[in-house]
Amino acid sequence: MISLRLKKIASLIDPEDKVADIGCDHAYLSIYLWQKKGCKTILASDINQNALEMAKKNIEKVHLEKEIPLLLSNGLEKINQKKIDTLIIAGMGAHTILEIVKQCTSSIKKIVVQSNNDLYTLRKTLKTYGFYAQKEEIVWEKGHYYVIDAYTREKRKTKKVEDYFGFYQEKNKEYYLYLWKEYQTILNKLTWKQARKKVKLSYQKHLLKKYL
Ligand SMILES: C[S@@+](CC[C@H](N)C(=O)[O-])C[C@H]1O[C@@H](n2cnc3c(N)ncnc32)[C@H](O)[C@@H]1O
Repeated sequence: MISLRLKKIASLIDPEDKVADIGCDHAYLSIYLWQKKGCKTILASDINQNALEMAKKNIEKVHLEKEIPLLLSNGLEKINQKKIDTLIIAGMGAHTILEIVKQCTSSIKKIVVQSNNDLYTLRKTLKTYGFYAQKEEIVWEKGHYYVIDAYTREKRKTKKVEDYFGFYQEKNKEYYLYLWKEYQTILNKLTWKQARKKVKLSYQKHLLKKYL
């Protein structure tokens, strides 16, 4: 059974995508893409030899050695990009993800990313690299919200607020809960004076409501 987070990542992949799972770790996602999504071109790579050993064992268990080749590579360094058109880069920090995307050639049409931090910098910088967010998924698992975005080269005008908080998902309860958690994080960074001012203001608003 793979995690909900990995399943959400897979939901943004189409069967015809030619995928490189960069930082595949144990290759759970690559295997799932083959078995459940019908993807027929999958390359799994990692910078870490130990991770690849685990990936190899898992791939052998399901007899997909020929179907899912493994490669030791720092980002896209050793990858023949002509053979793929989609990257999955998940479970890493924004800085590492951006370093990897920087290596993309024009064959890469789509990237699916899940960063562990700094979504603002990630979204803003990816636009300068020519990748525009088209779809977003939010998933709550093991005490964390994970935000997963699919980017393509199709240009889209975005508002600044989207760089901070992602797509506005009017009918998605998870989205509001995620925003609420983000808001709490912002509040936690306030000094006691700022926090007192905020509380005072919201208290006054609350009182005023009765008269409005
Ligand atoms: C936390 S794991 C995430 C694994 C999987 N992608 C997931 O989302 O569950 C991060 C993986 O990325 C690999 N990694 C980190 N930097 C990398 C790089 N520059 N190129 C390739 N793999 C990298 C690590 O070795 C590790 O296996």
